[in-house]
Amino acid sequence: MKFDTPAGNNPIDQLKVIGQPVDRIDGPPKTTGTAPYAYDRYDVVPNQAYGYVLGSAIAKGRILSMDLTAAKTSPGVITIVNAQNAGKLVKGDLNTARLLGGPDIQHYHQAIAVVVAETFEQARAAAELVRVDYVRSKGTYDLTAVKGKATPADVFNAAGETSVGNFMGSFAPAAVQLDAMYSTAHESHSMLEPHATVAAWDGGELTLWTSNQMIAWAVSDMAKTLGISKEKIRVLSPYVGGGFGAKLFLRSDALMAALAARAARRPVKVALQRALIPNNTVHRSATIQRVRIGATRDGKITAIGHESWSGNLPGGGLEAGAVQTRALYAGANRMTSNRLAVLDLPEANAMRAPNEAPGLAVLEIAMDEMAEKLAMDPIDFRIRNDTQVVPDFPATPGSSDPQSKKAEQTEKPNPHPPFSKRQLVQCFQIGAQRFGWDRRNPKPGQVRDGRWFIGMGVASAFRDNLVTKSAARVRLDNQGAVTVETDMTDIGTGSYTIIAQTAAEMLGVPLNKVRVRLGDSSFPVSCGSGGQWGGNSSTSGVYAACMKLREAVAQKAGLSATDAVFSDGHIRSGSRSIALADLAGGRGLVAEDVIEFDKLNAQYQQSTFGAHFVEVGVDAVTGEIRVRRMLAVCAAGRILNPKTARSQVIGAMTMGVGAALMEHLAVDTRYGFFVNHDLAGYEVPVHADIPHQEVIFLDETDPVSSPMKAKGVGELGMCGIAAAVANAVYNATGVRVRDYPITLDKLI
Ligand code: MOS
Repeated sequence: MKFDTPAGNNPIDQLKVIGQPVDRIDGPPKTTGTAPYAYDRYDVVPNQAYGYVLGSAIAKGRILSMDLTAAKTSPGVITIVNAQNAGKLVKGDLNTARLLGGPDIQHYHQAIAVVVAETFEQARAAAELVRVDYVRSKGTYDLTAVKGKATPADVFNAAGETSVGNFMGSFAPAAVQLDAMYSTAHESHSMLEPHATVAAWDGGELTLWTSNQMIAWAVSDMAKTLGISKEKIRVLSPYVGGGFGAKLFLRSDALMAALAARAARRPVKVALQRALIPNNTVHRSATIQRVRIGATRDGKITAIGHESWSGNLPGGGLEAGAVQTRALYAGANRMTSNRLAVLDLPEANAMRAPNEAPGLAVLEIAMDEMAEKLAMDPIDFRIRNDTQVVPDFPATPGSSDPQSKKAEQTEKPNPHPPFSKRQLVQCFQIGAQRFGWDRRNPKPGQVRDGRWFIGMGVASAFRDNLVTKSAARVRLDNQGAVTVETDMTDIGTGSYTIIAQTAAEMLGVPLNKVRVRLGDSSFPVSCGSGGQWGGNSSTSGVYAACMKLREAVAQKAGLSATDAVFSDGHIRSGSRSIALADLAGGRGLVAEDVIEFDKLNAQYQQSTFGAHFVEVGVDAVTGEIRVRRMLAVCAAGRILNPKTARSQVIGAMTMGVGAALMEHLAVDTRYGFFVNHDLAGYEVPVHADIPHQEVIFLDETDPVSSPMKAKGVGELGMCGIAAAVANAVYNATGVRVRDYPITLDKLI
């Protein structure tokens, strides 16, 4: 099904099941320990050996020699695989560095060997006995030091740099000006479930039970890496214990398990040890950003410029902190610049709300600073500069699928497309009232509660709504039950639940008659989970397949699908009513379809909006910061399930507090690695850090986004929240910190 005209009235609009706060279908299996995560697949894979991955002890250079003698004779050891004996490997398309290093080393903790043994402890003990001698070469590890060498780089398929009007000519004479530098830290995804894979070969065929967000990408990249055809690889990832972008792409656990299983001639499981993950896999790059805003005395922006610098390994992509500044606020004269420097740190890549999360963390402090200079309320200042069309070139047109972005690239016919729906102002108005914004004292450092300074802050939330083609298969059986199959993943987001709701709504069957099967490459290829496109796009694929199934059912019944009503397990038209179970026949009825987005998507800027409100307390003596209350008001199209959507937003808000106050991979700039590479040294918020969160969704539908009229929400909640915290800290104390995270040493 091509989605090329705005969605009209359709079966989803009945809202009998869609839009209901249904409990997560995967909740009971997860909380009772019966959901099979990759590392637990004893049920389907007998005789597993354990692989332990050894990471490089240098960041850049060469392995001179690797002595395996002692390790090989260690108890329980079956085999050891390294670059010398692994056979020919090709670097896949999606990882910046090779997943198995040697003799050349590209980054610290790059996998250089996997030791396979009967038990995990034996594999780990033997790995300690591998003797590696290196020669280290000089690397570049400090973003600040190489910032001047950074060059403009593209953002998805959009240009890295844009210019509209005359920025410099308008900024210089502006009545009120801000010109400030900011920085955000290197961050680690820190999902709960580590990267883990069980690999098993059957002749030349490989099966991987793994933890991955994008099944089809994993299959094709593994095929390329091993030089075998995609048809010979099956990837299963029905449960994922968090990803946040770290599992968008194949990682070393999967390749090392595959190589180890081939060498050991039996199934091998590999889980990356926690202390290996931050340097072995991927992180979000730190950024340095400069924001310049010029405005008239009455608060109209006349010039806005945003520059962002980030770093990555050669060939890697950038963290584009300036992109949202093309679309968020009005202003006739503007420039954005996203630059990338080469660093020899581990791979930087997408982490939840890539670009916008660090970009808004900065822009929204700048807006707060500017409002203060103007003596305006920060909400009034934002409302004053609202826009219903994109004032600059759109940020991220089309799909962000790295394997098809060239093919799917579409020209935006209008350089200043309208937003399909934009209710940013409403988000602020509703939030201000609900949060009690009128109780905020605009003068910082004035409000005390015992030993605490109290402050409030706001920020805009903004994130593009990407849509990506997605397929599904739906089967109706002679019991009237429906099975949905798609290689979509559920990374803790609620995919199982909203897909079941979609099928139940479309086919008029109760929710408990729908079974959803996900995360298997033998199912139709979905959009996968990433970029907050998963919920809307995957359910749209299910919608398309259900439309086909409705036709098949109607045909069987001798009825017209357009006139028929599907409800209570029956198809009805006029005076006729036939049970679906009776129409399915012995072999059932099956339909498969794919939803494809193209031209319509290119005519509008599709974005999601929100307003974040935060209240903090700052200890007057120690500088300790405690978040007291948080409220997010979101406008993100139809909310398919308010319970799962709320969970997404509060999780994102929590992650944003981490970015604001805690998260910081500290670089050893001499040796080129992240020092605090485990959950003891890398701090993330815990329950005690987040006392009170509230989420309000505006009652919105977006007929341009998809037949579901929904949008993404999983990343929106993370956008702007760090700045709302920072602005609240400023309001509490009068200390403006422009370097994240805002740790207490920066306050006193
Ligand atoms: Mo997301 S960072 O695209 O999983």
